[in-house]
Amino acid sequence: MERSNDIERVLIDEGEIAERIGEIAAQIDADYQGKIPIVICILKGSLVFCADLIRAMEVPVTLEFMKVSSYGASTTSSGKLSVSLDIMSNIENKDVLIVEDIIDSGHTMKALTDMLKTRNPATLRIVTLLDKPSRRVAPIEADYTCFEIEDEFVIGYGLDYAEKYRDLPYVGILSRKVYE
Ligand code: IMP
Ligand code: MG
Repeated sequence: MERSNDIERVLIDEGEIAERIGEIAAQIDADYQGKIPIVICILKGSLVFCADLIRAMEVPVTLEFMKVSSYGASTTSSGKLSVSLDIMSNIENKDVLIVEDIIDSGHTMKALTDMLKTRNPATLRIVTLLDKPSRRVAPIEADYTCFEIEDEFVIGYGLDYAEKYRDLPYVGILSRKVYE
């Protein structure tokens, strides 16, 4: 496949992802015993992770989708949130679990959780596939993190560069040749 030239190297392979999702799903199951959390899949990047996570979990869920992005002052911790697709259901007094692909500066998750808290969910937690803690600007942490990674631009398993590579089954480091 020609695009394999665009991948510097595989960072996390399919087997490692599946194994780690199994561990995180077991933690989530333990924390949500007897509950039916509303899972909010953050499009587009979280689609693949969310699909695997909810099937690895035993606790039943309902599924919603949101499409959000943050913009504005990157030097402050108060990024503005742009919501291009919102959830259809009322989350008041419900247990909400946000499924995110990657937390980088943290602006997106900080702004999203601030906004969702105004709708008064009973609980609000974040599960993320990837976390780049060294890049954090906004004060936000995931409740469940599958993998902490270094400051590298990664693609695959839902994550894109210019809308490409989402369909790769692994997380790979994008070659700098592609964007420099
Ligand atoms: P944050 O608001 O800076 O935390 O940005 C989070 C969003 O930036 C993620 O949901 C991704 O869409 C995107 N992003 C950050 N780092 C990467 C990466 O390494 N690869 C692909 N997308 C990324
Ligand atoms: Mg994203």
